Amino acid sequence: MIKVITYGTFDLLHYGHIRLLERAKSLGDYLIVGVTSDDYDISRGKINNKQSLIERVEAVKNTGLADEIIVEEYVGQKIDDIRRFNVDIFTVGSDWTGKFDYLNDYCKVVYLERTEGVSSSMIRNESKLKLGVAGDTDYTLKFINESKYVNGVELFAVYTENERLKESISSEIVLCKSYNELIEKVDSVFLISSPKRHYEQIKYALSNNTHVLCESPIVLKSKDYDELKALAKKNNLILNEAIRTAYSTAYERMRLLIKSGIIGKVVSIDSTCTSLREYYSSDSSEKWNSICTWGPVGMLPVFDVLGIDYNSKQIISLVTDKDTKHDVFTRINFNYANACASVKIANGVKSESELIISGTKGYVFVPAPWWKLDYFEVRFEDASKNKRFFYQLDGEGIRYELVSFVNMIQGYNNHTKINDEVSSSIISVIEDYYNDIDSIIIK
Ligand code: CTP
Repeated sequence: MIKVITYGTFDLLHYGHIRLLERAKSLGDYLIVGVTSDDYDISRGKINNKQSLIERVEAVKNTGLADEIIVEEYVGQKIDDIRRFNVDIFTVGSDWTGKFDYLNDYCKVVYLERTEGVSSSMIRNESKLKLGVAGDTDYTLKFINESKYVNGVELFAVYTENERLKESISSEIVLCKSYNELIEKVDSVFLISSPKRHYEQIKYALSNNTHVLCESPIVLKSKDYDELKALAKKNNLILNEAIRTAYSTAYERMRLLIKSGIIGKVVSIDSTCTSLREYYSSDSSEKWNSICTWGPVGMLPVFDVLGIDYNSKQIISLVTDKDTKHDVFTRINFNYANACASVKIANGVKSESELIISGTKGYVFVPAPWWKLDYFEVRFEDASKNKRFFYQLDGEGIRYELVSFVNMIQGYNNHTKINDEVSSSIISVIEDYYNDIDSIIIK
């Protein structure tokens, strides 16, 4: 019996895949198909899959061409599989010609002519969303660059009042003279404008049939958030909060590990996010303060791990401009019935920006800058039991955040990584800060 093996992602299974599988099958008597796992695809930069592993396996199964389906999970697995299953022929499309010649040491390698004119990427790009960006900080450029990695979306237009940014934006992107003009031209928008402008801008977008992805904090008042959520729901539009860390695989896995009890009961969280870089909007009165720049990401692990039902809090801030409440440093202490947390955030004071989650059996340590989370350690009293975890994170998570937004708009996925309760709690802490509730100012 001649055994043949082939591998692929097989997202949105198409004619090219079926032709490949048919020809692979006819090379022998028994066909094994390796379907890539979601994690493996992310680790090799394939971040745009619309379908989950289960759905992709199911689609391959439904072709009736595979005698056996396996999951491909790591680099080098092909050699293991060929040996394990006594494979005679390894085959793959001609787009890979030469890349798998090293497998000739283990079996015969056959490259099959790729079918012209169809691919998963093409299907994902068939109907592209027109995305606009409104913002004045340097992050705007970072976001524009990251959007190139995302299928199904075209960065179409930008509205900025920052002259330096205008000059850096490539000529294919339309530069709009007003926010309203931007909204007329696009069907989805990313907001990285000053948080003070978010409410009006989101309301305008949602009232004009435009989906919104908004850098956190979405708004500065809880009642505004409730109103905008209801408006998005009524108009059947997506309103997503953007905190890129929430979209990192490592962050998600860290949360699950903690939930599974690996460090025992969580008693304390210390989350520090600091920078000496200043985040400007168009004019300096709209300079991002510390609580808006870093507050949301600093509070994210606290609310995700300990929940939102804290008993009390204290906000201590070093404020340089009383009128705008511009804080260069803030520490927020949260007291829960059985735990506590301290969030240290600063745009103008420097500290070690690490995350430590302490439990009764051990602790999680995420090195600085922790919000670019691709690596963490679980540490114990007996250091020989320590565990290290690494998950690929490309583009600081920005491109994953955008993939998730696009997938939600297109109906491929129906939940965000940041739940509503967490967003509401973040907003309410920031609102209290502005209203001098539980808030102390140091000079
Ligand atoms: N394939 C093919 N003809 C196509 C598309 C894919 O023969 N038009 C083959 C690939 O060469 C590979 C297998 O099908 O052997 C699985 O490919 P996969 O990467 O899953 O599909 P693509 O359509 O190439 O996906 P993407 O656009 O995401 O790269």
